Amino acid sequence: MDCSSLDSNCDPSISICRANDKCTKSLNYQSSCTGDLRGTLCMQGGDGDGSYARNCEAPASAIALSKPSLLKAISCMNLFRGEASLRIADLGCGTGFNSLSTIDLVVESIKKRYARESISVPEFEAFFSDLPLNDFNTLFRSLPHLCPRGNDEKPRKLSYYAAGVPGSFYERLFPRGKLHVAISLSALHWMSRIPEAVLDKNSHAWNQGRAWIDGARNEVVEAYAKQSEEDLKAFLRCRAEEMVSGGLLFILMAGRSDSEHPENQLGDPDTKAKHPFTNVMDQAWNDLVKENLIDEETRDAFNIPAYMRSREEIRRAFNHSKAFEIKSLKFRKVMEHSKEKQKKWIKDPISYGKTKANLVRATLRPIIDAHLRSSHLSQEFFKRFEKRAAEDINLLQKTCYYGIFVVSAIRK
Ligand SMILES: C[S@@+](CC[C@H](N)C(=O)[O-])C[C@H]1O[C@@H](n2cnc3c(N)ncnc32)[C@H](O)[C@@H]1O
Repeated sequence: MDCSSLDSNCDPSISICRANDKCTKSLNYQSSCTGDLRGTLCMQGGDGDGSYARNCEAPASAIALSKPSLLKAISCMNLFRGEASLRIADLGCGTGFNSLSTIDLVVESIKKRYARESISVPEFEAFFSDLPLNDFNTLFRSLPHLCPRGNDEKPRKLSYYAAGVPGSFYERLFPRGKLHVAISLSALHWMSRIPEAVLDKNSHAWNQGRAWIDGARNEVVEAYAKQSEEDLKAFLRCRAEEMVSGGLLFILMAGRSDSEHPENQLGDPDTKAKHPFTNVMDQAWNDLVKENLIDEETRDAFNIPAYMRSREEIRRAFNHSKAFEIKSLKFRKVMEHSKEKQKKWIKDPISYGKTKANLVRATLRPIIDAHLRSSHLSQEFFKRFEKRAAEDINLLQKTCYYGIFVVSAIRK
């Protein structure tokens, strides 16, 4: 690849990432070559148009839908008499309001239970945990008692002590027997890494012409499924060590309905067609190739690290762990956005294209930047994505649903 097309952030001494190269020069470069995502994955920080903070409506809807399950789980959980403080972790907290509002809800609901049962109310510690590149500053700036907005706003006292914990939830994050409640919202479908075989150009699992696995070749899907199984087992192994007996584990993650095989990650045809990881995404990558901005290998080496598990796959990992008793495991569908918005966008496809591109920027821009090693090229990618999304009027008429699983389990 011609490095003259790279922007000033790019070290021209490093050529484009080839799947089989040995890469040692920079963390991002190395990470995207080896498939390990700890040094590249995060949601887009800040509060600009393409930030996660401004584009987390679908995860917020998923949380709203699962709120009754969370409240039910809290109403049935063990109370820890005699403990001076309870420790709650949000694993994969991101930057937006979703994490703060859920931690508020959890703390207030547990407090009410202690008060109702006339047990002295403990203090609370809340740990906001995410990968190291997460924009913790934006998250903590949203804490009302630390940063009141404007002179008129009275600082609101938080009902817990807050701390940030950088690291992957597929590894140990806390000392043994530390946590009373662990929650993870819209995060566990992100994998720890892209499987090696998928990054090997000579393997049958090389995912040619696709950025994701919906409808991909068996070998690609199997490699993802295997990685996802290992990941969930690792997550449960770590939480089993960190959580106290009787502690509550509450997970909301993207998933697929029981009847679907893994190669059909999304279910119905409309969702498959309209989901931001499928057609428009692939067209935008192809446009870069056709315009000679990148080569095919660069396109094919980009893979979205997400896997939608089935109920059976989730159960299998819990059975393997033996440390948790599942209390509830439900599949739900979340509509991508309201019918009102859809009507508005049908009249204004350009603004639909912009919104969709921002949504994808919010979740994938950091890994696309790292893969292309150029924010200029990445911007070109998003321009193509925006244009492709806006021009397909047929797609606009369709409705896309996100499948989610809501799991509550108790540490035995
Ligand atoms: C879609 S966001 C959800 C954020 C927030 N929980 C919400 O509901 O709005 C997914 C989050 O999971 C985080 N994540 C992905 N893989 C992770 C890992 N291995 N360890 C910790 N966090 C991870 C991402 O960095 C991102 O912040």
